[in-house]
Amino acid sequence: MKKKLWMFAVLFFVAIVAAACNSDDASSDSEGGDKVEIFSWWTGAGEEAGLNALIEVFKEKHPDIEIENAAVAGGAGTNAKAVLASRMQGDDPPSTFQVHGGAELNESWVAADKMEPINDFYEEQGWMDKFPQDLIDLVSKDGDIYSVPVNIHRGNVIFYNKKVFEENGLEAPTTYEEFFAVADSLEAAGITPLALGDKEPWTATQIFENALLAVLGPDDYRGLWTGDVAFDDPRVKEAAEIFGQMLDYVNEDHASRNWQDATQLVANGEAGMTIMGDWAKGYLAHDLGLETNVDFGYIETPDTDGEFMVITDTFGLPKGIDNVEDTKKFLAVLGSVEGQDAFNPLKGSIPARVDADPEKYDQYGKDTMEDFKNSALTPSLAHGSAASEGFLTKANQAVNIFVTQRDVDQLVQALMDASSDL
Ligand code: GAL
Repeated sequence: MKKKLWMFAVLFFVAIVAAACNSDDASSDSEGGDKVEIFSWWTGAGEEAGLNALIEVFKEKHPDIEIENAAVAGGAGTNAKAVLASRMQGDDPPSTFQVHGGAELNESWVAADKMEPINDFYEEQGWMDKFPQDLIDLVSKDGDIYSVPVNIHRGNVIFYNKKVFEENGLEAPTTYEEFFAVADSLEAAGITPLALGDKEPWTATQIFENALLAVLGPDDYRGLWTGDVAFDDPRVKEAAEIFGQMLDYVNEDHASRNWQDATQLVANGEAGMTIMGDWAKGYLAHDLGLETNVDFGYIETPDTDGEFMVITDTFGLPKGIDNVEDTKKFLAVLGSVEGQDAFNPLKGSIPARVDADPEKYDQYGKDTMEDFKNSALTPSLAHGSAASEGFLTKANQAVNIFVTQRDVDQLVQALMDASSDL
């Protein structure tokens, strides 16, 4: 009898535990179930600190929701974009993924009917007047909004080594004429004038797009992407010539470096300048521990004063995910003042929101916020906003060939040929 009672007690206990486990499953299913998988290319030095800070803010608010940081290394999404494309084609979307506002979002994913419109979510969060209208337009198609911008990066920046400039009596160049004069002085002093790491070709495309902006001005630069200005316009050739001349001043081992390796040359004084988006500011200040305006300075790329090459990292809601509610909770944090002010000071970007706290940013961030308000805004080609992925892939290839062959006419012809993909 005693034995029977004991057996009964054991069975009863097992049944209770099993019921508790089942009810756990059921409750997590009803709240959205799976973990939130965040897909980006923010991994490693200069890339991941901001995202990690954002995830921390999320974890404090939602300790019960698991986050999977699914980042694929490679600047500007060199590898991540291909992995994403195959997952999207295989109907295996991540919960949310990094995508640039503009063509990359609208022509790759919205046009393919892979994204949910999130207008109601914007209304619920009270966001309609919290992001600049220009930015909302970049993440919208046919009146529907498809993603949430976490930041604004600037693409037309020269970062330079302050000590090297001081020791050589140099001023930061504002025009191409000044740029080449400074470059000659640096070269004469045995310092690499311009650090480049084009192991991933987008870094060279970024130098070229800034030359296009300088020569064409903001309206006609935009015209390249709307088809109003053709690539055989003589000013495109002029920009390619300037780009070629700049390549005369880069480090010999440029083809084996990535953007971080090139930025390091400026940090340690082997090179004077580099042209890079302001994620390089995050890398210099946060990862390498250098001080803004003491160790390194910054200025817009030559002849682009009053112009701002916009790069915005955004995250949306892919169709077909099964944890919509939890993913929206992540997007809510990413679009909040708190989330943006945790992410952006580390990333080197400025907040996408208009009501973030400037005091959380160093002088670079403060200056960039002011410039953003007062500049002509132009979309970056190298970072997916200006033109379709098909055009960008061909442009990167053409630029890559140009870096070794320096054939201006061939570059222009390749862009002409690619323009049917715009
Ligand atoms: C850009 C992206 C930035 C930064 C950079 C380097 O495309 O918008 O956030 O990650 O690439 O990888």
